[in-house]
Amino acid sequence: MNPAPSRQYPADLVSTNLSPEAAGAWSALLEVLRLARAGPLPLAPSTLTAGEGLITWSASAGWELTPEAQAQAQTETEAGALLDLYLPLLLPEPTATLTLAHLGQSLDGFIATTRGESRYITGPANIRHLHCLRALADAVLVGAETVAADDPRLTTRLVPGDNPVRVILDPRRRLPLERQVFQDRAAPTLLICAAGPAIPRNWGQAEVVPVAATGEGRLRLDALVAELHRRGLRRLFVEGGGLTVSRFLAAGLLDRLHLAVAPLMIGEGRRGLSLPASPALGECLRPGCRVFRMGADILFDCELRGVAGVDTGIGSGSGSGSGPGPGPGPGIGTDGGVGAGLDRAMIERRRDECGATPDLFRIY
Ligand SMILES: NC(=O)c1ccc[n+]([C@@H]2O[C@H](COP(=O)([O-])OP(=O)(O)OC[C@H]3O[C@@H](n4cnc5c(N)ncnc54)[C@H](OP(=O)(O)O)[C@@H]3O)[C@@H](O)[C@H]2O)c1
Repeated sequence: MNPAPSRQYPADLVSTNLSPEAAGAWSALLEVLRLARAGPLPLAPSTLTAGEGLITWSASAGWELTPEAQAQAQTETEAGALLDLYLPLLLPEPTATLTLAHLGQSLDGFIATTRGESRYITGPANIRHLHCLRALADAVLVGAETVAADDPRLTTRLVPGDNPVRVILDPRRRLPLERQVFQDRAAPTLLICAAGPAIPRNWGQAEVVPVAATGEGRLRLDALVAELHRRGLRRLFVEGGGLTVSRFLAAGLLDRLHLAVAPLMIGEGRRGLSLPASPALGECLRPGCRVFRMGADILFDCELRGVAGVDTGIGSGSGSGSGPGPGPGPGIGTDGGVGAGLDRAMIERRRDECGATPDLFRIY
């Protein structure tokens, strides 16, 4: 039976606490992250095991689930889904880089109302997912409008894990000093502005970092990413808003995009992705996706590595990409995940039982 329409978030569908098994899987992922950060990992064909034997490292294959953990990932447990969802974010080699973006949007494609209200479009399980993504990242990036509208802290509070470095894209240095990220000392913070004369070294507690910009004042995102990598920040999480994520996507700088769709209709508001119209469906970007149920929301985990940038007029100004748009580049159409596909009968059963599902499970 369909649930009745409601103006409230169906809070009973999810809890914010990880089940004990899921908490164990999360600890394993954090341990892998710690080992990867401590590096260097063994290059000779040897095996390193982390997190109570759930995840192994070998120079040839990178991080992999053990057969037992793989079997768990294919079951309907939250712990299995956690391993399945987050393992691809643990870099396969010590010098690798990853840029992932996330947006939580309504059914009609908005990430906030017209007056900028976005708390909460998606539900508690997706908010917890954001905290997991922060914990797995070296740096979390947001656009100036998100800091202006939400005054976020961008810290990891709902799951164990370290706070990432906070990176605020404010090309014109318009954000006031009072914003929490410039005051609370909760994590190192970089304020990214367009290079120019008389730039202060600090803005509150944040270090001001000038980055090359175009004549129209758009930051060159390729130059920004290179600067963050130079600082040892290799796992980048672009948390929003829509303009910032769209510009990273347009510049061909995203390896993965997480799009969470909530059963909510806003009508009009701040757009999620804005990319140029494609005249033909065959020219549209159709990334390989894994799909997870996350509380009452659906998460699309899109693989974008190798997808070229598109000339949108909203891009990074890096000059990347031109022509009709991205065809299916290398990396598209891949499963992007670990383990084999899930059993279809089990998926159907889980869909039917949605009132009793765990917070997180893979649909396909
Ligand atoms: N649902 C979600 O997942 C989610 C996540 C985050 C935020 N939000 C909501 O989304 C809204 C904000 O999103 P938004 O799309 O309006 O804005 P936004 O992406 O947060 O910020 C856009 C601004 O950031 C600066 N910026 C970003 N990339 C730049 C680049 N390459 N070059 C130069 N400047 C760059 C620009 O500042 P200037 O304007 O100074 O040039 C730009 O206007 C808020 O209401 C927030 O609550 C929702």
